[in-house]
Amino acid sequence: MSKTSANTMWGGRFSAGPDAIMEAINASIGFDRRLAPQDISGSRAHAAMLAACGIISQQDAAAIDAGLVQVEGEIARGDFAFSTALEDIHMNVEARLREIIGTPAGRLHTARSRNDQVALDFRLWVREQCDAAIEGLDALMRAFVTQAEAGADWVMPGFTHLQTAQPVTWGHHMLAYVEMFARDKGRFQDARARMNECPLGAAALAGTSFPIDRHMTAAALGFDRPTANSLDSVSDRDFALEFLSAAAICATHLSRFAEELVIWSSAQFRFVRMSDRFSTGSSIMPQKRNPDAAELLRAKLGRILGASVALFTVMKGLPLTYSKDMQEDKEQVFDAADTLMLGLAAMEGMVRDLTANRDALAAAASAGFSTATDLADWLVRELGLPFREAHHVTGALVKLAEDKGCDLPDLSLAEMQNIHGQITEAVYSVLGVQNSVASRTSYGGTAPENVRTRIAHWKEVLG
Ligand code: ARG
Repeated sequence: MSKTSANTMWGGRFSAGPDAIMEAINASIGFDRRLAPQDISGSRAHAAMLAACGIISQQDAAAIDAGLVQVEGEIARGDFAFSTALEDIHMNVEARLREIIGTPAGRLHTARSRNDQVALDFRLWVREQCDAAIEGLDALMRAFVTQAEAGADWVMPGFTHLQTAQPVTWGHHMLAYVEMFARDKGRFQDARARMNECPLGAAALAGTSFPIDRHMTAAALGFDRPTANSLDSVSDRDFALEFLSAAAICATHLSRFAEELVIWSSAQFRFVRMSDRFSTGSSIMPQKRNPDAAELLRAKLGRILGASVALFTVMKGLPLTYSKDMQEDKEQVFDAADTLMLGLAAMEGMVRDLTANRDALAAAASAGFSTATDLADWLVRELGLPFREAHHVTGALVKLAEDKGCDLPDLSLAEMQNIHGQITEAVYSVLGVQNSVASRTSYGGTAPENVRTRIAHWKEVLG
């Protein structure tokens, strides 16, 4: 093979081009073309800094900048011929820049390496995704707050082990998810703050002898400061791992509510009706309304967690600094981010469109002896029984109701007194589910007044 087949970016000491298989395994342009806007922003900031520091001339910097703007336009319009031979987005952009502006293009890579370049581009991309996740979470939380407000005092069964436990309010259940998604938002905010240091200027790994100004590029690209250690700068992918970890926890929350929607929308529960916009029919069973979007959301965590396991596995045991293994970071994070953003948007749509069946919720709330704890508490409060004894007496009353096939409030006073002689008529006041939820005013409890206070808090926080 002739010398001209060798890569023009690094082919100086190569006499032959790569084998086709080598090219196929080595190239990342198939996916890292997504980093084009970040790559170009980084290069523009770098060229401006090189000129400001007197490392390249102002004319060359101006030519580079104009050329980069043109390349960006070509890529945005789909007018750009990506080349696998040029491996990745960094070399594709630079090669095109050389075609457009000639020699000055060769000065852009002064005091820089693809190692700090890719660390920068990817960090910029992940930082944007943190912002997108935060925005998506805000919208989703608003949808849950709207649901909570509509049914702040609607009663429904609260479950443990998916068995009826105690009555709770719909508003309280909706706000439980707001708490979860608020923590997710906090995780993305924390990750964003931690990743907001600029690796550009670390060069290949050791820094550079050129008199660069890393603070200038860091500021130009919206970073708080430059990274402090050049070795760490090019080998760190914590920001991607943190993003994936936050995404996986968030997707876990999405999958939990998705599962509740699947259960609640079933004919057996009828707690909610999903809108037509978020349901599908069956090609054979005309009565069906399938919660496909919820089922898909229940499953999506698999991809996101898979991406996180994949990247942890790539990074584990890698010696400092850059190794080509790290090129395997991008596809995982791209897929996880796309999946998460779609999931947040789909969940927001489902929650907004959701109609709760207030009557079915109320009917289920009083079934299953859900006020048994209220009864036991009454025995403690009014008759002074130790809680363990009250628990025992209540258990006997539940058994009696069960044997008779009725609910607790349906037992006569005589029947109750048979089991404990001091029980009075007043006990009936705590057997109703509305009274039960209204009494749970302890901080964080399900009482409608607590729910309304918390709704006001979230409305203020979320704007
Ligand atoms: N495409 C590479 C990546 O994604 C860019 C960095 C290449 N650096 C190198 N020394 N080969 O990681």
